[in-house]
Amino acid sequence: MSDVPLVLGIETSCDETGVGIVAGTALLANEIASSVEEHARFGGVVPEVASRAHLEALVPTVERACATAGVGLADVDAIAVTAGPGLVGALLVGDAGAKALAVALGKPLYGVNHLAAHVAVDVLEHGPLPEPTLALLVSGGHSSLLLVRDVTGDVEPLGRTIDDAAGEAFDKVARLLGLGFPGGPYVDRAARDGDPDSIAFPRGLTGPVDLREHRYDFSFSGLKTAVARWVEQRERDGEAVPVADVAAAFQEAVVDVLVRKALLACAEHGVDSLLIGGGVAANSRLRVVAEQRCAGAGVRLRVPRPGLCTDNGAMVAALGSEMVRRGRTPSALDHPTDSALPVTEVLLP
Ligand code: KG4
Ligand code: ZN
Repeated sequence: MSDVPLVLGIETSCDETGVGIVAGTALLANEIASSVEEHARFGGVVPEVASRAHLEALVPTVERACATAGVGLADVDAIAVTAGPGLVGALLVGDAGAKALAVALGKPLYGVNHLAAHVAVDVLEHGPLPEPTLALLVSGGHSSLLLVRDVTGDVEPLGRTIDDAAGEAFDKVARLLGLGFPGGPYVDRAARDGDPDSIAFPRGLTGPVDLREHRYDFSFSGLKTAVARWVEQRERDGEAVPVADVAAAFQEAVVDVLVRKALLACAEHGVDSLLIGGGVAANSRLRVVAEQRCAGAGVRLRVPRPGLCTDNGAMVAALGSEMVRRGRTPSALDHPTDSALPVTEVLLP
């Protein structure tokens, strides 16, 4: 293996077929084929549709990534693949493809955790991760606060959502406002013309009792219901729904709680580095509020650029590259996939 390992990463846990290639921490290719349009009319990802789309897209996406990076498959030093969590059928397609490549090329294979990959991706943009780092991971399937002492093997979950994920809340609110799918980017855009203080929506799990029992946990289902009730009332009164104001006020409630709890965890664990990852980290308001409050709290903030926040193959390659750098033992060729893989299991044996 060369000094700087060339790692190919495959991501198929949801609806994006992602293939990334990195050399050490340098990003060479990040190709994505998305089946999002096939799911849009259902208002959510249809697992079987996603699996079939991965099957069709995987080989062409690998080929595109190699062409973009200007490398041949024979040049690759290691393969990394998302082994979980995610949709079981979707995971199986990428994992089987990665195993086939590893066997055919005679190269080590790393079956890794999708959530840790959302954290590791930032090394491609901002260099080595400070240790420890507090990671706020917010996507369509997950909302967690993680204490990351070593992204290749020591990740401690501090809190998580007890109902909807943050991205899921964005998607559901977008739907009830008649916006598109996935909802996050639509709400983000609509909110730009709205007043975040126009409606006081609830901040879940921030009262004194909740802070005792669910200090670092999140809840967005009450907020979603509050938005639905508010909109229904307007409609019953025969008044137009101010979409921009509702979007802005809803977004403000989500962002406020996310940043508040992340900074609380930083303060209480003596951590001065916060990383935000996952699809919702692409949210423009979250980025602004996090920047302002981190500056006020003396916490360094790292957020990957939006294209690296949503699901992609580069994040898996980045985590694979860290595995190689730290000399971690590769996964067995018959390692399983796990749709509910806990974040504490960063690398499958
Ligand atoms: O990380 P990701 O691509 O896939 C999962 O692992 O779930 O996250 C997708 C989620 C969706 O719920 C989408 O609505 C949300 O990220 N999202 C956003 C934005 N862009 C994507 N949410 C808020 N604001 C955005 N700009
Ligand atoms: Zn994700």
